[in-house]
Amino acid sequence: MDRIRIVGGTPLRGMIPIGGAKNAALALMPACLLTDETLALSNLPHLVDITTMANLLAQHGVTMALNGDSALGSPSGHTLELTAAEVTNTTAPYDLVRRMRASVLVLGPLLARCGRARVSLPGGCAIGTRPVDLHLKALEQMGATIDLQEGYITAEAKGRLNGAHIIFPQITVGGTENALMAATLAEGETIIANAAREPEVADLARCLVTMGARIDGIGTGTLRIQGVERLHGAHYSVVPDRIETGSYAIAAAITRGDVELAGARIDLMEAVIKTLRDCGVEIIPTERGFRVKADAGEIVGTDIMTEPYPGFPTDMQAQLMALMTTASGASMLTETIFENRFMHVPELMRMGAKINVHGASAIVRGVPNLSGAQVMATDLRASVSLVLAGLAASGETIINRVYHLDRGYERVEEKLAACGACIERIKGEAAE
Ligand code: EPZ
Repeated sequence: MDRIRIVGGTPLRGMIPIGGAKNAALALMPACLLTDETLALSNLPHLVDITTMANLLAQHGVTMALNGDSALGSPSGHTLELTAAEVTNTTAPYDLVRRMRASVLVLGPLLARCGRARVSLPGGCAIGTRPVDLHLKALEQMGATIDLQEGYITAEAKGRLNGAHIIFPQITVGGTENALMAATLAEGETIIANAAREPEVADLARCLVTMGARIDGIGTGTLRIQGVERLHGAHYSVVPDRIETGSYAIAAAITRGDVELAGARIDLMEAVIKTLRDCGVEIIPTERGFRVKADAGEIVGTDIMTEPYPGFPTDMQAQLMALMTTASGASMLTETIFENRFMHVPELMRMGAKINVHGASAIVRGVPNLSGAQVMATDLRASVSLVLAGLAASGETIINRVYHLDRGYERVEEKLAACGACIERIKGEAAE
């Protein structure tokens, strides 16, 4: 397994290009199943999770053509053309689904297109049990019969799905996306109340509209969909990744540097921007995105609670915690979305951080500086928080199991090294 070696202490200066959003791409790609024509997605990031989704779709019968160059700094990313001319298999197998939970997003499209689907239950992951009960209840309301057998979801719809009035009891990004995709081809009107408002959900809705879907209320908590007979092909560009942006903004802040994030969209991350400004980080909008300036003045602690969009994103909690470990004063980070998303805490403490976890809250007391250490990545966002801590720590940090990182960050060491970071990837043996 590869490792990443960092010698910290260098303030980052320069420009980091922001790619397309992983969590938008993972919903946009299965949308190709809703039509027999070609869906072309540009600004697609080159990530392990994207490759996993492509492999999953290929075994459903989707043909794909990749072009475009994602050389460092190219704003375009990849363009992937996906064509589900014929769906030859409606089963999503365990060995693919267990690798990436977002695979469950083929469920709604397969049901809407083929009237049946057999999708492995994703199972839990490091950050929580992550059930999909709300996805299933929504699809049942639309007329699907759902059985759980041998670890698989078996779903059937007699003919077309029916429009329904779905009220999600709690905000679910994936549940909203599955219901939304299924509703585009259902008979009649579907209303999705208490819908997730994450920018990635809005991106999916906008893409579906370019494919001929009829959706009102995009970006709000109530989506109204008029089902249509069929959808057609389209060309759609993936929204920039607000979590990648926030992660690199914190890389600039934690090293007390000055970095421009090209391609970033401030309007997609107002809660993160407000929090960084509350901590004393200067955020300056530019033509290409925005600049993060933290080379003057001190970084002070602040309190946050993770919440569904537009609140502070749970996917930024670990990264902010890394910044808070060397801020002046104390801070409290409360995780309200997932039940086990503090696994970066013991690793940060090995680097000298002072953190106390009480239930869903972590109290961080800032220390003058961290010291490098051998640390272990456990999940995607925890691993990037260790990279951020390593950039600021004195001495050498070795991060093990960086395959977690590669799921969600494209060429992370190249992008950071281009801004002066002393960071390299140490190729590991295949299976250690
Ligand atoms: C999406 O996961 C993201 N993944 C996650 O990003 C993100 O953390 C999460 O939304 C919250 O913003 C993708 O988009 C691929 P949820 P998702 O359904 O859809 C519970 C990352 O790091 N729940 O909004 O799985 C669930 O257990 C990843 O990029 C149910 O109880 O999240 C959780 O506590 C991590 N039943 C909460 O709701 C359900 O049927 C939010 O889950 C569905 C969810």
